[in-house]
Amino acid sequence: SDPDQLQDFCVADLNTTTTLQNGFPCKPVSQVSSNDFFFSGLTKDGNTNIFGVSVTAGNVLSFPGLNTLGISMNRVVYAPGGVNPLHSHPRATEAGVIIKGTLLVGFVSTTNVFYSKVLNAGEMFVIPKGLVHFQKNVGRGKAVAITSFNSQLPGAAVLPATLFASNPAIPNDILAQNFQVDETVITSIKSKFGSS
Ligand code: GLV
Ligand code: MN
Repeated sequence: SDPDQLQDFCVADLNTTTTLQNGFPCKPVSQVSSNDFFFSGLTKDGNTNIFGVSVTAGNVLSFPGLNTLGISMNRVVYAPGGVNPLHSHPRATEAGVIIKGTLLVGFVSTTNVFYSKVLNAGEMFVIPKGLVHFQKNVGRGKAVAITSFNSQLPGAAVLPATLFASNPAIPNDILAQNFQVDETVITSIKSKFGSS
C-alpha cells in the first residue's frame, strides 16, 4: 500500500544527510549495479529470542533496492513452542507461506473476531493491513515461514513491547486501568521486559 514509484527504481541512499520526507532519496544511477537488486540476507535462520522467534527483515533498510517499490519480505524462524508475539503492521497487509513445520496463525478483526488456522509447509496465510496477529509453532520441530508485505517498510507494533517496554514507560496506573487489574500485575509484567 505504499505509493507508486515514478521511475524504474530508486536504490536507497541510506547515508543521506538530506531531510527525509517520505522514504529515501535515490543513489545516482551511475552507481547502481546488479548487487543492488539481489539480497542474501534471508538465507539463514537467526537466533530465537525470549519468545522463541527470530525475524530477519528484508526491507528497505537491509535491502535498499526495495526503495519506492512497495514490497518487502521477512524470514521468520520459530523454536518448538515459540511464538511470534502479537503485533500489527501499520503500513502493510502481510502474506506468508510456511516453508517448514506447523504454525497456528491468527489475527483479530476490528470487530474483535478471532480468525485462525493451523498450517503446514506450503500453505499460505494473509493478515489484513494493520490487524493484530501472531504465529505459534505448534509442531514438534523448528518451523520457518517467509512473509511478504505491500510496503518497503511495513513497521511492527509488537504489543508486549509497545505496552510494557516503551521508553519512557506508559505509567502503571494507565496500564492498570486499561487492563482492569491491580498495578502490581503491571509491575510484574514490566519486570519481564527489564523495565519498571
Ligand atoms: C510475521 O507476522 C511477520 O511480520 O513477519
Ligand atoms: Mn506480521
